[in-house]
Amino acid sequence: MATARSSSKNSGSSSPKPSSTFREMIPSTRIRVLRTVDSLRAWRKPHAVDQRIVGLVPTMGALHAGHLSLIRAAARESHEVVVSLYVNPAQFGVHEDLESYPQTWPTDCAALRQLDRELADDGSNLGRISAVFVPSTADMYPSGFPGQAVDSKGSFVSITPVGEVLEGASRPTFFRGVATVCLKLFNVVQPDRVYFGQKDVQQTVIIRKMVRDFLLPVDVQIGPTTREADGLALSSRNVYLGERRRKVATVLRRALRAAELQYVEGGARGREAILGAAQKVAADTLAEQMALALENRVTYEVDYISLSDPETMEELSEVDPKKGGILSGAVKMLPVEAPQPGEDLGHSGGPAVRLIDNIILEPSSTQGEDH
Ligand code: PAJ
Repeated sequence: MATARSSSKNSGSSSPKPSSTFREMIPSTRIRVLRTVDSLRAWRKPHAVDQRIVGLVPTMGALHAGHLSLIRAAARESHEVVVSLYVNPAQFGVHEDLESYPQTWPTDCAALRQLDRELADDGSNLGRISAVFVPSTADMYPSGFPGQAVDSKGSFVSITPVGEVLEGASRPTFFRGVATVCLKLFNVVQPDRVYFGQKDVQQTVIIRKMVRDFLLPVDVQIGPTTREADGLALSSRNVYLGERRRKVATVLRRALRAAELQYVEGGARGREAILGAAQKVAADTLAEQMALALENRVTYEVDYISLSDPETMEELSEVDPKKGGILSGAVKMLPVEAPQPGEDLGHSGGPAVRLIDNIILEPSSTQGEDH
């Protein structure tokens, strides 16, 4: 229920009906729940007069520790933190998982309540979570939702060519949807700072470029990727994996680390040497899996493993140590074969899950730092 696909779905049967005097809050907190653009604007206005620093953390809900780390970063340096929870249909392809995207409003509220208590106890923060913005699609797309098709007509923000490569090549409407909704969110919230995660590295490059090219008065902050103990990057989509695939899902991280090692310790600068190490890990892991019986096996397809320029995300044939580079990849974990009775297949019966991850090859002065 963290989504706002339609206003009726969004408010839910148990939620009180908004009225002009009613102030919805997350229970036992001072966090306002603002469900309309008008209510957010009314909340924002006095903070502009008082010159309070407003930080925005855009999310699609299904909050996990990665999201919470961005909110913590925002609270450190903003008087007022706004967290938006909105599953933006425009960034899902026609055949993608919009309908099954995890909707977890009650657990999101619980996570925000707990984090807000933690922030209250920690005197080093400038502010706390002031509001969550949970808009409806009718509000976010006032002329009507333009549709998810590649050739949909409507008002869109396109950041090209960087939005067309890598994730954009696999998901042609994705960055158009992300840039469009983020511009809308920035226009409504008018944040001084916005917080994005390194986990979605191409998204950070696109947001930075949008802010630069559209002269937006906002400071973009990027927080490091939060990981599980075995290195898997936290993602709202990990719930689809189930136990069997979860164990093998670290393959992308291991592959990217092998490539990083070639660069940092092996002194490699050429594309083949660096990416070859990653491809070997991906191929060896798959071979190990193929040697197993069907009921134990996990299979996946590597969508891409890339070495790209940190600003344009164009593929590099060689890394210039003064500029560094981005190692990134996507693998599609295929549904398990021969599911066993009672086996935990993951959320929604364990569909194919596309995982992404990345490592920054820092420019020489800070070379080797891992994000
Ligand atoms: P969502 O996937 O919910 O992610 C919200 C923010 O959390 C993004 O900036 C993302 O990079 C960050 N994040 C996700 N996993 C993380 C992790 N393991 N460590 C650190 N940060 C992590 O990204 C989106 O939503 C949407 O595209 C959005 C920007 C909200 C636009 O709809």
